[in-house]
Amino acid sequence: MIEYKDKVFHISAPGMSYMFRADGYGLLEHLCFGPPASMADAAALAVKPGTGWGCAVVLREDDNASCPDVLPLEWSGAGRGDYREAPAELETDDGPVSTDFRYAGYEIIKGCAPIKCGLPQADGGTETLAVTMRDDALKAELKLYFTQFGAAVTRRAELVNLGSRPLYVRKLMSFSTDLAGEYDMHSFSGGWIAEARRTVCHVGMARTVNESVTGFSSNRANPGFMLAEKDAGEDNGRVYGFNLLYSGSHYASAQRSLQGLTRVMQGISPVGFRRKLMPGESFETPEAVMAFSEAGFNGLSHIMHDFVNAHIVPRAWRYRERPVLYNDWEGCMFSFDESRLLDLAARAKKLGCELFVLDDGWFGGRNSDRAGLGDYNVNEKKLPSGIDGLAKKIGRMGLEFGLWFEPEAVNPDSDLFRAHPDWVLAEPGRESLTSRHELLLDLRKEEVRDYIVSSVCGVLDGADVKYVKWDMNRQSCALGTAAHEYILGLYDVLRRIFAPRPDILLETCSSGGNRFDLGMLCFSPQIWCSDDTDPIERLDIQGGLSYLYPQSCMGAHVSASPHAQTLRRTPLYTRGNVSFFGVLGYELDLKDLLPVETREIKAQIAFYKAHRELFQFGEFTRLPAPGDAAGWQVMKNGVAAAGIFRRLVRAAPGYGRVRFAGLSPDKRYRVESRKQSLRVGGFGSLIKYVSPVRISVHGALLRTADKHYAMPDGGDSFTASGRTLLAGFSPAGRFTGAGYDSASRNQGDFGSEIYVISEETGHVKKR
Ligand code: GLA
Repeated sequence: MIEYKDKVFHISAPGMSYMFRADGYGLLEHLCFGPPASMADAAALAVKPGTGWGCAVVLREDDNASCPDVLPLEWSGAGRGDYREAPAELETDDGPVSTDFRYAGYEIIKGCAPIKCGLPQADGGTETLAVTMRDDALKAELKLYFTQFGAAVTRRAELVNLGSRPLYVRKLMSFSTDLAGEYDMHSFSGGWIAEARRTVCHVGMARTVNESVTGFSSNRANPGFMLAEKDAGEDNGRVYGFNLLYSGSHYASAQRSLQGLTRVMQGISPVGFRRKLMPGESFETPEAVMAFSEAGFNGLSHIMHDFVNAHIVPRAWRYRERPVLYNDWEGCMFSFDESRLLDLAARAKKLGCELFVLDDGWFGGRNSDRAGLGDYNVNEKKLPSGIDGLAKKIGRMGLEFGLWFEPEAVNPDSDLFRAHPDWVLAEPGRESLTSRHELLLDLRKEEVRDYIVSSVCGVLDGADVKYVKWDMNRQSCALGTAAHEYILGLYDVLRRIFAPRPDILLETCSSGGNRFDLGMLCFSPQIWCSDDTDPIERLDIQGGLSYLYPQSCMGAHVSASPHAQTLRRTPLYTRGNVSFFGVLGYELDLKDLLPVETREIKAQIAFYKAHRELFQFGEFTRLPAPGDAAGWQVMKNGVAAAGIFRRLVRAAPGYGRVRFAGLSPDKRYRVESRKQSLRVGGFGSLIKYVSPVRISVHGALLRTADKHYAMPDGGDSFTASGRTLLAGFSPAGRFTGAGYDSASRNQGDFGSEIYVISEETGHVKKR
């Protein structure tokens, strides 16, 4: 709900109030963003600067308290007495100018106020507050938009040049605000195959920055971040979350003032940015989303997940279950032909997969990553019946068909580049630098966008393609404004291709998670989180992303062990268990599977399908877990599934307790662990302790047994009250060296288990 009275604005939702007012000078004074408050509290919430602050600049000579430098503000000027970081930097032809926007009026609009410049936008907002501010000396108008989406609020800014001379936007943040209090910044940083690692930095008086300048939202610094009180935990404490609906270079900063205010802002990266605004022209920023929770990080995640599921992903895919896919990349790389693909598809179908994805290597001279990118004509040597023929054959097997593209880039060794060397994004007078042997196409050019749209649509309309993986495997070299215009070009292309084809499931990817952001999610319901599919690495990658993104948008595949990036050997059940908390897929050579592995994968897929809605759309909670283990839980309609994932084992492990979340204390629940089994070969020479006959460790008998048989591993099956399960129960015992016990969990490093928790009918008597 958005309320207005006597220049006080109040955006409220259950558990949250965001309030500010236009003060006597027309500055927008921040009053609160936090637990529910009432409009009548405005005066009590306002800061009291007393008789002023020493050498501070004042807005009126006879009012010592009118110093903008010490006020909490929703937007502040530059060069006008507020020396904290300014959200806008503008220039005229004569150079930098100060800015001093003052309140000029407001409007409350039903729903969202449409963005005009082609940036993506959240949809389904209830109301929008548009506050107009004006700088008369500059002859410019600033509109600040606040849209409510349940417990989340989005903000963006629009600058209009009302003068008769050009204005230059060097920096325009989507929002700026001053929170009361002291926080740590939690951001999600990393790089290729190491995305979204949570890093924590105390926000002091030196500025803390989370930014990307690669032209993309990047795997170095995800645009999403949080500000949390020092003692906030997963389930307690005050936490703020922020994110940007944007896929280009971004910037966010937080900095504490002497007065104890934390200024936080976020928007397009100002590095190299200079956008000319002709008289009458306007510039719009991307939309940013912000949310607050008093229930710790999990509380914040719940709000952000709902926001993404309900307001960000394309309408046709909201809460629509995603298929279990098989992707041929890690199994085949570039080396395949139709018969190999059909063989893999037949195997994938038998396992229970629903969608077969042909990844890189199907077009032009694309037999390695050195050539062919840009030429979307099918390689008939590999695929004599074309994409259409292949899709039909796969369709007849009962599988849907999906295809990989990397339309934004080109190999210099390609027909496209030879025909249009001028289509690449390049700086005049400089040699273009390649990355993964490719250059970026200049999506600012209309003819380039037309080429991409027509070549991709030509393929999509020529065959029954139900899924597209849209890849992008290099960083940009474009700076500032050019990089921003590139992103606008990208959104135009995505809109033109996919808006008329809403039922195609689009999964975007950028060498894994190099563009995992809300901008891309407005077009693609899911994103490939990382090229790193090692399940233990994924605990950090998916775990990091889970703070701000729901599991429905994370592509999570089971791949081969030892893993290509870590050489780590992990049990197949753990690879499945981790991937369940995302959109499950398989990406390995199915021909290499042993009969025991085939059985395990069949069981995994059947289990996932039986609980798919729960895993993809259930409320996700990070659980407390013993030692360095990770615990994840999803819950929907009274049923929960929880995964406990261990890293390295210690000898003589303590009992440990497992705790679930979100259960009703007085209800009674049945707890069942998913049935898992242990490879016989995994026991090596220990097998002699359990086998009634003498078996040679290196002999044919053990090798054969290992292919076909697996030993049951202990699990839990019991009922208990919600109260006990919330407080912690004692799980099945662990292997302690005395031998195999089928009732215990006989897991070594990287063991894991999944529990399904369902309500029993009838209630526990209250004591
Ligand atoms: C990138 C992607 C992979 C795969 C390859 C194909 O690395 O992240 O998943 O599609 O490109 O070249």
